[in-house]
Amino acid sequence: MTDKELYREAVKAMENAYTPFSHFNVGAAILTEDGEVFTGCNIENSSLGATICAERTACVKAVSNGKRKFQKIAVVCHEGAVTPCGICRQFLYEFAPKLPVITGPDEDHLMEYKLNELLLDGFRLGDEGAVLGVE
Ligand code: THU
Repeated sequence: MTDKELYREAVKAMENAYTPFSHFNVGAAILTEDGEVFTGCNIENSSLGATICAERTACVKAVSNGKRKFQKIAVVCHEGAVTPCGICRQFLYEFAPKLPVITGPDEDHLMEYKLNELLLDGFRLGDEGAVLGVE
């Protein structure tokens, strides 16, 4: 799957965003190690704190389907490029500290970040406590 194709999946997922409060629509598509794609959108809630972002929606769909190894994630918002919020950075870091994050204003102008650059010295627990740095 190419970056463009993954980005297109994120764009498609954005159509289902439920955003009556912010009207800020986001879509995400996460590619598993074995080539499966799980998509997500942001889903807001009257109790604003219960809102879930597109990236976490995609990730929880993957993990709850038994997939924990990821190659890449694409993220897009209705304005174009967007990078994951702090909570999503931490959430994704659990499974893939060096995850490439693709975004862009459109499919012909994609940018790639690495999760461990977006979340410097991220926190993760291993068998013997905090894991410092990325392996
Ligand atoms: N949002 C995401 O879905 N992903 C991000 O990376 C940024 C924020 C959502 C949460 C909320 O529904 C809306 O965007 C405005 O913050």
